[in-house]
Amino acid sequence: MSTQNRVRKAVFPAAGLGTRFLPATKAMPKEMLPVVDKPAIQYVVQEAVSAGLTDLLMITGRSKRSLEDHFDRVPSLEARLQEKGDSTKLKAVQQATSLGDIHYIRQGDPKGLGHAVLCSRQHVGDEPFAVLLGDDIIDANESLLADMIAVQEKTGGTVVALMEVAPEEISAYGCAAVEAIPGEDYVKITGLVEKPEAKDAPSNLAIIGRYVLHPAVYDVLENTEPGRGHEIQLTDALQTLASRPEGEEGAGVYAVIFKGRRYDTGDKLSYLKAVIQMAAERKDLGPDLVPWLQEYAKSAPTQWDDK
Ligand code: G1P
Repeated sequence: MSTQNRVRKAVFPAAGLGTRFLPATKAMPKEMLPVVDKPAIQYVVQEAVSAGLTDLLMITGRSKRSLEDHFDRVPSLEARLQEKGDSTKLKAVQQATSLGDIHYIRQGDPKGLGHAVLCSRQHVGDEPFAVLLGDDIIDANESLLADMIAVQEKTGGTVVALMEVAPEEISAYGCAAVEAIPGEDYVKITGLVEKPEAKDAPSNLAIIGRYVLHPAVYDVLENTEPGRGHEIQLTDALQTLASRPEGEEGAGVYAVIFKGRRYDTGDKLSYLKAVIQMAAERKDLGPDLVPWLQEYAKSAPTQWDDK
């Protein structure tokens, strides 16, 4: 049984190689790709902080130093902006450095998401914790993570976030079979499978990159064999917890089905759409960008040469 039952810690796996964005990510972490004017990872860290999580752990790897630099202060830059009286930029710069207590640990040998989570064991210890994946940005007006934390605190189990996707998209995600819980707005997970083919998928409910995990997941991960892509899959470990009989340590995996706004930045096309959509919705950029987009769309290419 955990001694600490309140969720306080957030883990951000950020050791992936970013191969989908090569060559842009050859010397730069994919988490630092700008989404409008902030690196993608900053939105995700801000989301955890807004949900009340104050102890933040980033799992990094080689070529990820700029991540640490981004969340660190640069007094000379701040002084220069202060002198110039540029309070807007000063505020923007300070926003990234006043988010909380950020710790870093390196995942020397990236062996999958499950392995990245396992790297957080010593830091997290025996308490429930959140995991946020950097490829998903959840709109700042949504309360998904806070809702998931509330479900974790109520059930004492593990909570994932699910979202309905088109059947042909399910093979890009972990997929869940669920059953309703009478009177509750969250569901119980009865089965999980990592990236099934559409024809084998138990549903069109995809795991999106938010988890609130029971610490029993660590022992399970230690014993989880590499799965899909020869990687240690978090989904497989959660399937083990979901199949535990009630009353056993870590039994009970639940889900909040998210219907709000999510931006995927995990591949080139989704990333471009996310940047355009988020910029179009902003007061400082939308009024100029949207009419331009409408005009551009009229003359945008409709045929493409095989070049
Ligand atoms: C990971 C998980 C997958 C989940 C996805 C959400 O996959 O393994 O279950 O659906 O994140 O973004 P990845 O996208 O890292 O391949």
